[in-house]
Amino acid sequence: MQFYINPSDFAKSSLFVIPVLEKRIDEILEEKIQKKIKTSLFSGKKDSTFLLESEEKVFLLIGLGESPDPWEIEKSFRRVLTKNKELVEKHITLDFHDLCSKNLIENALVGFQLGSYSLGFYKKEKSRDFGDLKVNILSQNKDIDQIFLKSQKIAKAKIEGFKLVDLPPNELTPEYLANWAIEKGKNLKINTKVFNEEISKNEDLKAFLAVGRGSSKPSKFIILEYRNPNAKFHIGLVGKGVTFDTGGLNIKTAGMVHMKSDMGGAAAVLAATQLIADLELEINLTTIVPAVENAVDKDSYLPSEVIGSHAGLSIEVIDTDAEGRLILADGLSYMVKNYNPDQLIDFATLTGSSVSTFGYECGALFSNDDNLSKSLQDAGMESGEKVWPLPLWEKYRTEMDSEIADIKNYNGKPIAGAITAAKFLEAFIHEHKKWAHMDIAGVAYGDSEFSKTKSGTAFGVGLLLKFIENQL
Ligand code: BES
Ligand code: MG
Ligand code: ZN
Repeated sequence: MQFYINPSDFAKSSLFVIPVLEKRIDEILEEKIQKKIKTSLFSGKKDSTFLLESEEKVFLLIGLGESPDPWEIEKSFRRVLTKNKELVEKHITLDFHDLCSKNLIENALVGFQLGSYSLGFYKKEKSRDFGDLKVNILSQNKDIDQIFLKSQKIAKAKIEGFKLVDLPPNELTPEYLANWAIEKGKNLKINTKVFNEEISKNEDLKAFLAVGRGSSKPSKFIILEYRNPNAKFHIGLVGKGVTFDTGGLNIKTAGMVHMKSDMGGAAAVLAATQLIADLELEINLTTIVPAVENAVDKDSYLPSEVIGSHAGLSIEVIDTDAEGRLILADGLSYMVKNYNPDQLIDFATLTGSSVSTFGYECGALFSNDDNLSKSLQDAGMESGEKVWPLPLWEKYRTEMDSEIADIKNYNGKPIAGAITAAKFLEAFIHEHKKWAHMDIAGVAYGDSEFSKTKSGTAFGVGLLLKFIENQL
């Protein structure tokens, strides 16, 4: 897509997209179309649209309701390209007229660009990618140039986040993620390190290596360092990168087909890292993605095996399907020992239990710091990527006591699974004082109006951006 901001000649656009706030509908119609529309047909209500032709122009009116939330605007504008393909020819004009709020325009522009994303990666006949589309942006906001540039970076990062989850596990392997990170290192101010299995062994990443043992695809321990000379603080992100989760020898009996999404945490932190570097935010950021495939093979790790870990704790493996916490344990421990960031945050599609608890509405949030917890909840509310807290009480830790080792990876009970998983992780953070764990199993991937199958959501990218911006 090519964008033109307030061009002098936009008359050749055949399609004009006009957002309409419910309370402003009369003025907008008067000013833009010189026509009245019966309120019963269109009144600017949220999620409504109205199409109308007038003097060789087609107007697509987008109802935003009284006071729309940012993510609702994003969704409304994502529909422009996904739902109106046949209307969109070579030119389109987005007329923000007197809707001047920076947030509204930013979210609308992000949503509009997300509309070009399509899942048909392997189709002989590709769907239209809108590469040739000329987009006019009309706005009276004096910062419209910056708003647009920022929206472009956000949309690019979110699309990366979608794609990483949506690509199938024969393509999106640990090596793919490693190459992705190396590529980012070339284009952005990011320093990428990738540990292969041999280096990982020298670095004592024993729990991480145990999980990947059954896979023919070599495990990769991926580190991205973004450094800004004016950094106000240092954030450490860790993302679960299980590129496919068969469950291992405790093989999954249900839902395995969806387990390409088990690197949703990695997708979130990688896409967020791209965005933070692209926006040159004034922070230091270190991102770690332990990337493995949890597969079935003669070499697979066994239930009842006792394995080591980077933190030095021995772990009794009760269930090989509780693999995410094992690789995260090494990721978190490595982060604290080598980088000691001010804030440590991990994202993981960790437990079915978090899905049973919250459904698809929000992620489960755990933190040992009340301020951090509150800031993440607030950022979630502002971005529409909601997270809600669950407790880390000591009582739950005793559930993970092992007879034979320092800790076990599962207590064998079908209760409080998201919490006991979080307690397991906490044992590996070396008492870091500002840690948060986000279990995003229910929200990283799912049904949406934008595709026929479940697909990636890039959940976490918007939340992290808000979380950081709120601190700058
Ligand atoms: N990848 C799953 C968690 C998951 C479940 C993600 C549903 C997305 C949707 C994870 O590795 C897993 O298998 N967890 C087990 C843990 C159990 C064996 C302790 C679970 O939640 O059942
Ligand atoms: Mg192997
Ligand atoms: Zn699993």
